[in-house]
Amino acid sequence: MNYRAVKGMNDILPDEMVRWHHLEREFRVVAERHGYGEVRTPIIESTALFTRSIGEATDIVEKEMYSFERHGEALTVRPEGTASAVRAYVEHHIHQKEPVTRWYYLGPMFRGERPARGRYRQFHQLGCELFGDAGSVCDAEMIDMLHGLFMRLGISDLEIVINSLGGADTRPRYRQIIVDHLEPRKARLSEDSIRRLSSNPLRILDSKDERDIAALEGLPSIIEVLTQDDREHFDRLCSQLDRLGTPYRVDPTLVRGLDYYTRTLFELRSQAGQVGAQNALGGGGRYDNLVQQMGGPSTPAIGFALGVERILLAMDVAELASPPLVVIAPIGPQAASEALLMARELRDHGICVELDGRGGASTSLKAMLRRANARGARVCLVLGQEELESQKVQLKDLAARSQVLVAREELMHRLLDVLQQPMMTGGAA
Ligand code: HAM
Repeated sequence: MNYRAVKGMNDILPDEMVRWHHLEREFRVVAERHGYGEVRTPIIESTALFTRSIGEATDIVEKEMYSFERHGEALTVRPEGTASAVRAYVEHHIHQKEPVTRWYYLGPMFRGERPARGRYRQFHQLGCELFGDAGSVCDAEMIDMLHGLFMRLGISDLEIVINSLGGADTRPRYRQIIVDHLEPRKARLSEDSIRRLSSNPLRILDSKDERDIAALEGLPSIIEVLTQDDREHFDRLCSQLDRLGTPYRVDPTLVRGLDYYTRTLFELRSQAGQVGAQNALGGGGRYDNLVQQMGGPSTPAIGFALGVERILLAMDVAELASPPLVVIAPIGPQAASEALLMARELRDHGICVELDGRGGASTSLKAMLRRANARGARVCLVLGQEELESQKVQLKDLAARSQVLVAREELMHRLLDVLQQPMMTGGAA
């Protein structure tokens, strides 16, 4: 029996981790610089939490959730992070402790979508949620923060698309306008859109089907039907982004696939890395009614989530350097015991050390050197009988292909010296 990972779910091996860590580090730095603190919520929540917040008629709830029953409870492996953040915010009465709350999170999410490049069943998100501030300054700051993060990551063909869905009253009103416009043209719609016309007409707006696009012609844009308050909020956001010099494009057909949004919506896209149809690297928006809808006090909120796998596909980084590695190759059991101490001492000085314990048995120096090179080690320290007796160590600079015999007490100094030099060449010594 050959076991394989579940379809659409991937192993991330240590070689790829360097890029993951780089992205996670950059995200944490940027989020913390903007006052966000990390929150970790359980990966499993009650199913009702997601159906109520994301919306019954959304693709996620209709066909993508991993749900099951245990101990008489209906549970779901989280498909996104906002619902959990809101649940935790309400459950811990955070609004009583502080007027404004900024949380960030990172971790795996699960949606049973059809797997493709950039679209998986287990994927990872980096997200932020901000509670307690309704002003457009928040929206502008968040979008600008994302722009800054993507610039740091070297994704230069980023496109930021924004829209406004208006407040609670605009959505039903616009929904009716769509239905009134499409009902007489119903026969010309795609099958999906005919179904959505009664369940979730707003989603028809982002259909890519030619028939739907043709049928939508002449429909007033949602921006045109916003209330004066909503319109002013959106106009202020645009002028604040202009003032910041943050690039964006207004697209009145942007609706996104979750029901909780109100007012500002945004999506970040890139064509880099052939993420193909999955070109949304992230998205978010306001959800000013959700906290109250989930049992909390009326609290405005805004947030976003980024798809880690998609960003990594779009990120044009040549191999990121891992910290330089030192391999210790002892020859014989006595040298291996001594190497244990040496390895600990070097690690205490912050050096990454891999001890090739096989040298304590019968593995040859040649084989250990071959492995050190294959691991991309910068230095190999050879400790044989002769070196043991003379209290010395053979220091092999694998990049410079040179070696020197170093007194034990000078080792740290010499080693730090070599490790600080840029690696001019790779390859075998
Ligand atoms: P979302 O647009 O559903 O929003 O997901 C955000 C991002 O997660 C997407 O833009 C994409 O990069 C990534 N993503 C989604 N599904 C997949 C998948 N199957 N495979 C790979 N990547 C995927 C949300 O999840 C909201 N919670 C965002 C939010 C936070 N809104 C307010 N606060």
